[in-house]
Amino acid sequence: MRKGRFVAFEGGEGRGKSTQARLLADELESRGREVALTREPGGTSGAEAIRHLLLSPPGEGWTIEAEALLFAAARADHVAHRIRPALEAGQWVICDRFLDSSRAYQAIAGGLGDEVVRRLHEFGSRGLLPDLTIVLDCSEEDVSERLQARDRGVSDAIGGREATYHSAVNRAFLDFAVDEPERFAVIAGKGSVEEVHHRVLQAVEPLLRSES
Ligand code: TYD
Repeated sequence: MRKGRFVAFEGGEGRGKSTQARLLADELESRGREVALTREPGGTSGAEAIRHLLLSPPGEGWTIEAEALLFAAARADHVAHRIRPALEAGQWVICDRFLDSSRAYQAIAGGLGDEVVRRLHEFGSRGLLPDLTIVLDCSEEDVSERLQARDRGVSDAIGGREATYHSAVNRAFLDFAVDEPERFAVIAGKGSVEEVHHRVLQAVEPLLRSES
């Protein structure tokens, strides 16, 4: 039985997802919740090994089909060995990226189509969805400065794809939120880290209330 709460952070590259995920986890812990802070691809030793294969591909690189299968395999391991046990133990799971990244990067920008990626998720992870998915929305200009500072011109196999791919990714996240408003909160990434954190807490408040 599932007793905990599951929040995912999503968005394109350099949106500050990891920072906001950590701040939310800290805040929940200070309010007495047990928290599992995790990320994708990764979160278990098996999924971290797959992360390495995805971000630094050996040989000539993965086809988009193989890439989608590897993300789904990493997620299946992460869900079975980390996320479901934490939820069953009543913990809050805060995850930096989840299924909607596969939908945006592989299904939409990569051209595989949403149906395929959702089927892989049904098969691999029994369709587990977060209670709330927070999309951090930033302008391309704000992000490009942040990315240059972070990556210093060195990006991984997916981060290094062309600008049109990343624009399609960013648009896809916003479209998902329009299609399923009950599952998503779109949060403006503009302003200080504290300002964005405050907006995140407001979005999470209904979930906190739903516990009691
Ligand atoms: P990461 O360094 O975690 O990126 P970021 O800091 O921007 O979150 O690398 C994860 C990369 O993998 C990122 O480019 C997004 C991509 N990705 C997918 O393409 N599909 C997925 O399902 C997931 C989880 C990530």
